[in-house]
Amino acid sequence: MENNKRPEAMKRIETPELAKSFIDEQLAAIREQVGDRKVLLALSGGVDSSVVAALLIKAIGKNLVCVHVNHGLLRKGEPEQVIDVFRNQMDANLVYVDAVDRFLDKLKDVAEPEKKRKIIGAEFIRVFEEEARKQEGIDFLAQGTIYPDILESGPVKAHHNVGGLPEDLKFELVEPLKFLYKDEVRVVGKELGLPDGMVYRQPFPGPGLGVRCLGAITRDRLEAVRESDAILREEFAKNGLEGKVWQYFTVVPDFKSVGIKDNARTFEYPVIIRAVNTKDAMTATVEDVPFALLQHITERITHEVEGVNRVLYDLTPKPSGTIEWE
Ligand code: XMP
Repeated sequence: MENNKRPEAMKRIETPELAKSFIDEQLAAIREQVGDRKVLLALSGGVDSSVVAALLIKAIGKNLVCVHVNHGLLRKGEPEQVIDVFRNQMDANLVYVDAVDRFLDKLKDVAEPEKKRKIIGAEFIRVFEEEARKQEGIDFLAQGTIYPDILESGPVKAHHNVGGLPEDLKFELVEPLKFLYKDEVRVVGKELGLPDGMVYRQPFPGPGLGVRCLGAITRDRLEAVRESDAILREEFAKNGLEGKVWQYFTVVPDFKSVGIKDNARTFEYPVIIRAVNTKDAMTATVEDVPFALLQHITERITHEVEGVNRVLYDLTPKPSGTIEWE
């Protein structure tokens, strides 16, 4: 059995110098483990998989095959950023899979949150498996496992492992970040030259916008979540809240309310804004967002997002609310 305990002598990676020596050690270790064979990686564009990708690209170049599955539940601009950073800038071997229709068809009329999660997880494995079978001569699977995943103490659910692959696709694992904490992964990512927007990203759940488009997902409400989330992120960035607030996003419920636009009655969806701070996601407090900024964001969302006539700010700490709505 592999040793899964962080070596006691290992220094916390807090400086660019320490990140650099970690990178050098890992490049040697990866080359030694993998040689000239091929490695497959599910690249979501999240911090961990992006840092693993950048490390492996440096170590073995095109022998790393990155698979980016767009399940239609990603935030605005994310698939484009993955393609831009990894294919265009780092010249990676990147397979982009547009699986949007597949996921949305499977999720049609499914309203129960845990069922939605299961479908998204299972479909992800299926799509990834199909791509893995198309590739020839793969011996390894790289994963962005980090130390809290191993300790299983983190409330951020173990979402890194592409577990559940069939027996004949059980590759040997490459897990260069498995002894690192999240803040260390970010220092390493920065040293590897990944953009700040990727390295300092707020946590984003595996099921993505799927659990923020409440109830049975419809394309119109999913677009409303994506567009309102983009406006919220843009305004938080402009107003110095990016990197300060732990997690912030919008939610679109599956009910409508009456409103008025251009002197006519409307019957449209509300958008709920959530912005919370926490240390470990077990409890959370609500960010005291300046009222004028909330008003400005409301103005933008009600004018720019189709099908939305109302904006609410969620004032509930955890407990009694969870961070996500589903
Ligand atoms: P809750 O809603 O339980 O969220 O207070 C705590 C943290 O976990 C994230 N979260 C998830 N992450 N898959 C994930 O990878 C999930 O199904 C999931 N559900 C919640 C949530 O975004 C928050 O950071």
